[in-house]
Amino acid sequence: MTVAAESERIRPRVLIDCDPGHDDVLAIGVAARHCHIVAITTVAGNSPLVNTTRNALIATDLFALGQVPVHSGAAGPLNGSSGGFATGAHGRSGLDGPLPRTPSRGADGDDAVSFIIETVRREEGLWLVPIGPLTNIALALRRAPDIASRVTGISIMGGSLTHGNVTSAAEFNIWFDPEAAAEVFNSGAALRMCGLDLTHQVAADGRFADALSAHGTDTSQFCAELMHFYQGYAARTQGLTGEAAYAAPAPLHDPCAVLAITHPELFSIQRLHVVVETAGTQTRGMTHADTRPWANPAEATVDVVVSADGPRAVAMVLDALLL
Ligand code: BDR
Ligand code: CA
Repeated sequence: MTVAAESERIRPRVLIDCDPGHDDVLAIGVAARHCHIVAITTVAGNSPLVNTTRNALIATDLFALGQVPVHSGAAGPLNGSSGGFATGAHGRSGLDGPLPRTPSRGADGDDAVSFIIETVRREEGLWLVPIGPLTNIALALRRAPDIASRVTGISIMGGSLTHGNVTSAAEFNIWFDPEAAAEVFNSGAALRMCGLDLTHQVAADGRFADALSAHGTDTSQFCAELMHFYQGYAARTQGLTGEAAYAAPAPLHDPCAVLAITHPELFSIQRLHVVVETAGTQTRGMTHADTRPWANPAEATVDVVVSADGPRAVAMVLDALLL
């Protein structure tokens, strides 16, 4: 698509529910470029709620989103305590790497669930884009089941068709609050799912941070420092150093959930029956998909994004951050 045609794309209206988180910030940057961001809501996940809310506000400063309302939401999973935050990938602040920043403003409210319900009922054609644990979305659907059919869809980063990243079965966003995820997957809303097997196809190596750094603006430099930490984690977990560490692929998970609605031509989708396992002793938090060729198509309700043009998707993410 040419640059002119790119500018003629319709920008989907989105509410981003997030737990920033390095890749959440990148996703907000992609949405700032290609969507109309109606609102941002925050949830505990990668880090405690106070951190994810501060980090979302930092992201609105980075991407000139001063007019976008930010509301904080659930401080923990539906069933009480969490299994832990993602301090390895995101550090204690949730955004380790760059020097800490103080956002230029505070949150607009602390009742994200009511805010999501009101926003969905008011807006036409709204996409929900949850890129953290699904606690806020589940609570909104529980209190207002009508919103399931009001939204255009829910584009989720979460789950996997293969292995997890917290346990061998469970991906972080689903593992953090499996009951919430199960309620969302059972809600009847139109779901699009970007799981780990997809997001690992959209991965950045050290060149990504270098390109951001070379651009030399405050936003690109901040994102470069985020990526040094985040891509460094990918390398550290594999025990890589030197050139091998530079080449280590760091999956750009959360931007995929945005690109899957703004640039669907970069992806292929398979409609599958997906259920969230909440009871299994080995498999709690797993997204179990019926991939049998003879599976009943009437039960297949989730648009699972199964493959990507990785290099083009990574280039789209990078381009959105070169402000
Ligand atoms: C997901 O978990 C978080 O650490 C990331 O922000 C992403 O949303 C990947 O498993
Ligand atoms: Ca996230």
